[in-house]
Amino acid sequence: MKPIKVLFVCLGNICRSPTAEAVFSDYAKNSKLNLQVDSAGTGAYHIGDPPDPRSIACASLRGYKMSHLKARQIQVEDFYEFDHILAMDESNLANILDIKPINSEAKIELFLNYSSKKLKDLSVPDPYWSGEDGFNTVLDLIEDASKNLIKYYQDRNL
Ligand code: 4NP
Repeated sequence: MKPIKVLFVCLGNICRSPTAEAVFSDYAKNSKLNLQVDSAGTGAYHIGDPPDPRSIACASLRGYKMSHLKARQIQVEDFYEFDHILAMDESNLANILDIKPINSEAKIELFLNYSSKKLKDLSVPDPYWSGEDGFNTVLDLIEDASKNLIKYYQDRNL
């Protein structure tokens, strides 16, 4: 069966989207779904860098491994390669849509559309300038939305 290819996107690809990649990949492994998971940033600031040490540390406390990941920037090919592109915040989504080729068939939306909570703001807050709390909030939001995204695929027998 053809895999569903999922791409998580934030700004730097060192905090939110690699965390989503690590958490969602972990859940995907425990599902019967055939999923391929990656992440990228809209910005070029951190290309080649590992995730932020604070993201690695907070994720590790919950059992997720992400120190092997390397930041990359989203590129035109991604719009043809991936089936589902999930933006961490409204600004990421706007930047992704700005560069989306007209004939891309990828489904592009906010990741927190899959949140189980009634959130006023569907953005995963950028933790880069925050303390440890910010990184734990990111993990809480990502764990919740990842569970529902898995369920979304399962319900559709994808
Ligand atoms: P991310 O966080 O988009 O979740 O990876 C950021 C990382 C770096 C920067 C901004 C946000 N930065 O400006 O370098």
